[in-house]
Amino acid sequence: MERKMKAEIAVMTAENIDEDAIRRGGEILKNGGLVAFPTETVYGLGGNALDPKASMKIYAAKGRPSDNPLIVHIADIRDLDRIVTEVPEKARILADKYWPGPLTMILPKADIVPKETTGGLDSVAVRFPSDRIAQELIRSAGGYVAAPSANTSGRPSPTTAQHVAEDLGEAIDMIIDGGQVNIGLESTIVDFTEDIPVVLRPGYISLEMLQETLGDVRMDKGLIKPDSKVHPKAPGMKYRHYAPKADLAIVEGPTEQVISEIEKRAKEAEEKGQKVGIIATDETKGRYSHGIIKSIGSREQEETIAHHLYEVLRDFDSCNVSAIYSEAFFTPRMGQAIMNRLLKAAGHKIINVQEEKENDSTGM
Ligand code: TXA
Ligand code: MG
Repeated sequence: MERKMKAEIAVMTAENIDEDAIRRGGEILKNGGLVAFPTETVYGLGGNALDPKASMKIYAAKGRPSDNPLIVHIADIRDLDRIVTEVPEKARILADKYWPGPLTMILPKADIVPKETTGGLDSVAVRFPSDRIAQELIRSAGGYVAAPSANTSGRPSPTTAQHVAEDLGEAIDMIIDGGQVNIGLESTIVDFTEDIPVVLRPGYISLEMLQETLGDVRMDKGLIKPDSKVHPKAPGMKYRHYAPKADLAIVEGPTEQVISEIEKRAKEAEEKGQKVGIIATDETKGRYSHGIIKSIGSREQEETIAHHLYEVLRDFDSCNVSAIYSEAFFTPRMGQAIMNRLLKAAGHKIINVQEEKENDSTGM
């Protein structure tokens, strides 16, 4: 099916940047329009961060509640001081170590940043992405680009320009296609508005890496116990997110038991004339014989799992499946971030097969 397209699509690579298209994109942003662009994490939907009307347009295009603040992207560390009133020593240390890169910091906002951009808050989220296309676009737009992930609210974040076009092609002015993103999960968010830095969203940079650099850092309590009455501090983390169309459940426990539980459910569905989706790994995909099986990547290379997560969830939306079962991915470094996104996509539905056979201790 051909979709009606409004957005101009400009294809380029970081090694071969189309300077004319970047200039056009910069002009669109300066004039209050919207441009989607690649970053190293996921695609962003950009608008001029200092223009309240542009921020309102972003919320409207995504169908996002306007109390859910946007991240302001910069492309020069010297631009930070204009949009915040204070940069604590520990934030400087993190910026030195991880910027440009997949790190967002929450700092007290300066008056120049409109409340529309920060969802009414007195703090602002700031990120300096490492993607060269993103950097050039931000510079050409005047230095401050507000950008949430470029998906319709509630859908998986986009990791290709095609994903952006599917969701927003009719609602925005331009899409810069820089190919598939590198990491595939959104940036780590660290809040510096309290005494101890707090991780509001896990990402490629893990809690352990932050603690190594800063000492005391804690995880937002609202993330640790998602069922409790403690709400996550980042407004965006409280919404059901990344939701695939079919119901998704995560099956957790020792590998062999997980495989046979998923197989059993897939077979039962097949007997009822239904098909289930299975999110497996390179190591396990050959073990399933019912349903539609997709490998998300290899447990030996956890970055491949992060890289494909959103794409696999989107792919299942175009398959006619009645339910999706996923293995769990508590991998060593990015497991926190991967499971945070997967649990949200599943609405926290977990089937624990370990509970049934307690004396097996071979964890996945
Ligand atoms: O990797 C990323 O961060 C991507 C790329 C495009 O840079 N952007 C992204 O933006 O993920 P978004 O809007 O999808 O997620 C921003 C998150 C939301 O959960 C929001 O609630 C939180 O950051 N946030 C933004 N400003 C905040 C603030 N002042 N205080 C607390 N949380 C904030
Ligand atoms: Mg998002």
